[in-house]
Amino acid sequence: MKSIVILISGRGSNMRSLLEADLPGCRIAVISNRADAAGLAHAQALGLPTAVVDHRAHALRDDFDTALARAIDAHQPDLVVLAGFMRILGEKFVAHYAGRLLNIHPSLLPAFPGTHTHERALAAGVRLHGCTVHFVTPDLDAGPIVIQAAVTVAADDDADSLAARVLAQEHLIYPQAVRWFLAGQLQLTKDGRVRLSAAAGTQCCGALIAPQMQPEAQ
Ligand code: GRF
Repeated sequence: MKSIVILISGRGSNMRSLLEADLPGCRIAVISNRADAAGLAHAQALGLPTAVVDHRAHALRDDFDTALARAIDAHQPDLVVLAGFMRILGEKFVAHYAGRLLNIHPSLLPAFPGTHTHERALAAGVRLHGCTVHFVTPDLDAGPIVIQAAVTVAADDDADSLAARVLAQEHLIYPQAVRWFLAGQLQLTKDGRVRLSAAAGTQCCGALIAPQMQPEAQ
């Protein structure tokens, strides 16, 4: 049985989409850096294993990363999923989980890394906006892209309406990426490229999806 650890900091709607996705044969644990994260209460109510690793208890970023990795590794995860986890993780931490650490970001990367993506998309006047699932590298919101979904930006959109449409797509593409990973259809190659097997389907949603399918290993 595969093991997944989901890291959250707040609301946890992406975590919920993963929990509701009926992922085949896996154990899921949830870890938050905030004890008051709403998503944590939801995971606890479902009886999932949970833990809190409070970043404020660690003066040094490295010490927080070490404590977090210890809590994660207690579950011997095949995959670690950042789902609205609002801490920047150090190089050593990222290297430890290389090829098994995914993040979701609310923009069509490489556009708008960082925060306030919806406001920035509106200010830039883009016609397409969306979300991206990517493997995590030490550079913020810059790792190899697994899947993206796009939404059109309407003339009367504000940041909230745009965020809501993007979030609905996040809830579709993140479970899809995790399903691929669990099925062994999604890998990060040694040279940092995403390999998605041709057997992987994209039946998840009607949005514009941009997976990088590649033939099975020759
Ligand atoms: C999502 O928009 C996600 O893309 C970003 O933070 C937000 C978290 O939302 N990284 P939730 O906690 O999953 O509801």
